[in-house]
Amino acid sequence: MKIAILGAGNMGGAIAKGLVRSGLNAADITLTRTQPEVPEDLAALGLAVTTDNTEAVAGAEVVFVAVKPWLVSTVLQPIAAKIPSGALVISVAAGVTLADLRADLSRAKGVRLARIMPNTAVGLCCGVTAIAGETPEARDAAKALLDRLGLTVVCGEDRFGAITALSGCGIAHALRFLRAGQEAGLEMGVPAKMAGEIFAQVMKGAAELVLHSGTHPEAEVDRVCTPGGLTIRGINAMERAGFTGAVVQGLLASLPEK
Ligand SMILES: NC(=O)c1ccc[n+]([C@@H]2O[C@H](COP(=O)([O-])OP(=O)(O)OC[C@H]3O[C@@H](n4cnc5c(N)ncnc54)[C@H](OP(=O)(O)O)[C@@H]3O)[C@@H](O)[C@H]2O)c1
Repeated sequence: MKIAILGAGNMGGAIAKGLVRSGLNAADITLTRTQPEVPEDLAALGLAVTTDNTEAVAGAEVVFVAVKPWLVSTVLQPIAAKIPSGALVISVAAGVTLADLRADLSRAKGVRLARIMPNTAVGLCCGVTAIAGETPEARDAAKALLDRLGLTVVCGEDRFGAITALSGCGIAHALRFLRAGQEAGLEMGVPAKMAGEIFAQVMKGAAELVLHSGTHPEAEVDRVCTPGGLTIRGINAMERAGFTGAVVQGLLASLPEK
């Protein structure tokens, strides 16, 4: 399957890396950017980069649009007529709707269209990707490909704002929690690298417990908290410092306006 990824930055690069890690052939994937140099991490996986969007989409069965939202029209309109009929165009651009994309693709013939909201963990095939399709067929085709990159969530475009906050931004919020744990470990005398690795594994384990068992997070908390014990003492101290309120406020502040 020949794939073009327009935009070789954080997200375009993460998608490319995830697709290669999932077993697709790097030789079938072409990324584009404004500079001719191939970023080292992409070159290491055998991925090719060009500055020519038209060349990249020639013969492509899937075209990812991974440029900044305000550049989508500038990038798509001039190449729309060159995208092969039947190709699946998948946009990651935050806030750019399927209707906006279809308008940019007005000169394209027989192109299927989907819009996604991934997070950067797709590069390690453990991301979360929300998917909306212009048609059920386009949505299912996008899902079949993106299932390679982690969890996929099929939803309407009206959910994209919330999923952008929870997943696209939420990964940075979770990393800030990780850094806080690392700093606490450091204060307790644990070397920073060791504290970071331990707390990262703790977060991964906590996530796996919930994902694996399907239980409410609080049920797992209850299993760890001995009455009168250290864990509940720590949790209550966190809550007195406003932990849950701070997390909710942070995620709500990351909710896009449109
Ligand atoms: N970052 C995230 O966590 C995240 C999450 C969800 C969705 N998104 C969406 O992903 C998109 C890209 O964001 P990003 O964070 O990856 O941005 P980024 O790191 O700045 O990458 C943008 C890429 O687009 C390339 N580019 C700019 N103009 C171009 C053109 N005319 N033709 C071809 N390539 C061009 C840039 O080239 P150069 O390398 O030469 O500068 C760069 O490689 C955005 O629409 C954003 O909403 C991002």
